[in-house]
Amino acid sequence: MSSEIIFIKGKKVTLRPPETDDIPLFTKWFNDPQTRENLSMRRPITMEEETKIVEKLNSTNSVFLVICEAASGRTIGNLSIDISWINRRGMFGIMLGEREDQNKGYGREAMTLFIDYCFNVLNLHRIVLEVYSFNERAIHLYKDLGFVHEGTFRQHSYKNGEFYDLLYMGLLDTEYK
Ligand SMILES: CC(C)(COP(=O)(O)OP(=O)(O)OC[C@H]1O[C@@H](n2cnc3c(N)ncnc32)[C@H](O)[C@@H]1OP(=O)(O)O)[C@@H](O)C(=O)NCCC(=O)NCCS
Repeated sequence: MSSEIIFIKGKKVTLRPPETDDIPLFTKWFNDPQTRENLSMRRPITMEEETKIVEKLNSTNSVFLVICEAASGRTIGNLSIDISWINRRGMFGIMLGEREDQNKGYGREAMTLFIDYCFNVLNLHRIVLEVYSFNERAIHLYKDLGFVHEGTFRQHSYKNGEFYDLLYMGLLDTEYK
């Protein structure tokens, strides 16, 4: 779907709050075998469950935004941060739902806009994320944006018959500014 609402505006992408009409597309993405490959989802997700997930992600302790292609307004992904206000820290996640929208710089710009929002508007001190060791594109992008590889949970996640390492990465506001 496309929407007129814009929360953060970039050149390639815009970020907006989610709407009820987004739920079928998100449910499609999270059930898609290829899309699930890089994410932690294993169980099937119903529209009802996805509705609850999105509601929970847009609470006082989280921000969830929809990524749209700036030129068309088309919905292409989402990103979120789960915040610990006491520690001024957030756990970040991002996905572009369709393969043809990946590797075109949309993820980079969406993250750049969102990191700026997290540090300069939400006043967070630290952004952390987890990424599978085989997700080379994501790791390249995160490192390029300044995220530091802080540790590895060895053979942490079982996927398709194998255990994979999970990398823990972090970015401090002082490193970003
Ligand atoms: C990870 C993701 C958010 C990145 O967004 P994107 O728009 O595809 O990425 P961008 O085009 O902005 O940047 C990708 C960078 O990785 C590089 N890259 C692409 N494939 C790569 C690979 N196999 N190995 C190393 N680098 C790679 C690109 O060259 C580009 O770097 P550059 O700008 O220095 O040339 C997106 O691909 C995605 O949603 N993937 C599926 C879900 C996912 O993996 N989410 C993250 C879970 S932790």
